[in-house]
Amino acid sequence: MILIKSPREIEAMRRAGAVVGQFFEEVRPLIRPGITTWDLEEFADRYIRRCGVGTAFKGYMGYPAHICASLNDTVVHGIPSKERVIREGDILSIDFGVLKDGFYGDAAKTFAVGEIDPDSARLMETTEKSLFAGIEAARPGNRLGDISGAVQAVVEGAGYSVVRDFVGHGIGRSMHEEPQVPNFGMKGTGPKLHPGMTLAIEPMVNAGGWAVKVQGDGWTVLTRDGSRSAHFEHTIAITEEGNEILSIP
Ligand code: MF3
Ligand code: CO
Repeated sequence: MILIKSPREIEAMRRAGAVVGQFFEEVRPLIRPGITTWDLEEFADRYIRRCGVGTAFKGYMGYPAHICASLNDTVVHGIPSKERVIREGDILSIDFGVLKDGFYGDAAKTFAVGEIDPDSARLMETTEKSLFAGIEAARPGNRLGDISGAVQAVVEGAGYSVVRDFVGHGIGRSMHEEPQVPNFGMKGTGPKLHPGMTLAIEPMVNAGGWAVKVQGDGWTVLTRDGSRSAHFEHTIAITEEGNEILSIP
């Protein structure tokens, strides 16, 4: 069942989303060559305390950290590590969520570390563009497949591929609610979208093929062919007029 949130509940999700959105503003200037992904985890830990919010990821199915920090050929769920130094030319995807007043916010962005090669830049731009194409399609009267199809068209039109094994999701009092929001699929199919639905749309896009593999730690998801991967995510609400992005400061 897809849960419809009341205006009051959306208001609470707006507050959770604002904490997530502000995190990305504050973490961006910290991302530079020489720091480790653990340094960013420590920042997230301090940020969560300062905001007085709950962690969303740490403890979720045993996940050990507040953020996912996924470098280069890591698609998602990279575990922060003191050994993982960020280098000039890397691309770094950070995924972060919080629990505030009973509701979750969830978002992700991929950052360039210093100067990056042109194809990595195009991969990041395409992935963000595909997220916004999906958001554009998220309005009443449309169907879930319109979101999926819009994301897929942008990604494949640019010659990249959409990860199949992980998808976006409904979000609210649980981090993962119905429906699943795939980044591939057919326009005009699936459940109708209604005001009050809240979704996390999160394209994961590989420069090469879509196949992925999970590392021995049980979490880290890598591209099978070693190509780079980017990830952008927003939490949104369907409104009468269209939608509202909740995971912004
Ligand atoms: N944005 C991811 C998701 O929606 C974050 C979950 S990662 C986990 O699934 F570490 F919490 F599992
Ligand atoms: Co998510």
